[in-house]
Amino acid sequence: MPHYHKLGKLPPKRHTQFRKPNGELFSEQLFSTEGFSSVYSILYHHHPPTTISSIEKSYSVEPKVVYQKQMQHRGLQGFNVKPEDDYLASRKALMVNNDVHISVAAPRKGMTNYFFKNADADEMIFVHVGSGTLKTMYGNLDFEYGDYVLIPRGTIYQIQFKDENNRLLVVESFSPIVPPKRYLNNVGQLLEHSPYYERDIKVPEKLETHDEEGDFLVNIKKQGMMYPYHYKYHPFDVIGWDGYNYPWIFSIHNFEPITGRLHQPPPVHQTFAARNFVICSFVPRMYDYHPLSIPAPYNHSNVDSDEVLYYVDGDFMSRKSVTKGMFSLHPAGIPHGPHPGTVEKSIGAKETKELAVMIDTFHPLMLTEDALAIEDKDYYKSWLS
Ligand SMILES: [Fe+2]
Repeated sequence: MPHYHKLGKLPPKRHTQFRKPNGELFSEQLFSTEGFSSVYSILYHHHPPTTISSIEKSYSVEPKVVYQKQMQHRGLQGFNVKPEDDYLASRKALMVNNDVHISVAAPRKGMTNYFFKNADADEMIFVHVGSGTLKTMYGNLDFEYGDYVLIPRGTIYQIQFKDENNRLLVVESFSPIVPPKRYLNNVGQLLEHSPYYERDIKVPEKLETHDEEGDFLVNIKKQGMMYPYHYKYHPFDVIGWDGYNYPWIFSIHNFEPITGRLHQPPPVHQTFAARNFVICSFVPRMYDYHPLSIPAPYNHSNVDSDEVLYYVDGDFMSRKSVTKGMFSLHPAGIPHGPHPGTVEKSIGAKETKELAVMIDTFHPLMLTEDALAIEDKDYYKSWLS
């Protein structure tokens, strides 16, 4: 999130001597993004972040793509993915392309005996069910139902849950996930017309510093491979940091909907932007108030994007037989629209309680083995009355 934050102890000037009480130097780390051209942070470690003691054999975690090319409306039951103990093993990629991987996860347990670093993707973890704490080298963030947890690539983290009942939507983005440019003024502040404001954003407030020597396993994901690295020092040995690059949280419940007399187009729901895809929030809101308005959406030919909707809660007004945790994928090339009966039913309704996350990609999505395992095979026929 492009605003300045700092935690812990820092020297008055960057790149100068910063010593421990025993006279040793702290180890400075510049953490930059997009080369040196975008946001960055400067961290001060008790020990250099380079002390690798051993590397285990790497292994593939590449999504198993079944359909590289496809043009069929799909319905996937995200909650049919079975819970698993291990956090990383529980993540199942369903729809992927070169810009984004969309996964679900139902982890029973958090991470205790390892850390994780996604080396080539920013992560957006939407918390559908569950709560807990994200622990990172930048400090800790508590999360709960409805939170979008944003973790910039390269952040070493551990995730801990309050109990075993957890359902997450995980978006891995191979470019930074940021607020849409049109929401920002020329110095990066969220504008008055933006559906959210800096005050709605949670940043790390508690820095836990572990000056510990031992054997610390960091599973590092890069190019579809997992590299198990063992480090000599605890990765959370940071005494202080400052800058603009750090994990943060925005709750979907803080998204202020933009409504109108007539049906508003999907961009009013946009929450985040990334290269070649957007993330939108559909939240409870008052319906259109023109006397002859039709609150249900029109049929829509999305010639440029594959549209993924993930249903979170409430009645989804334009769909029949929609359940929590369900995805619909409406690919570019064929129109989609409201289900039979939903248009008439929407007329006169004053408000909707729907809660959903939409991910629109400008390049087609490929479907994986894990997606087909939870597919509602007849979804494409669901417009037949
Ligand atoms: Fe659409």
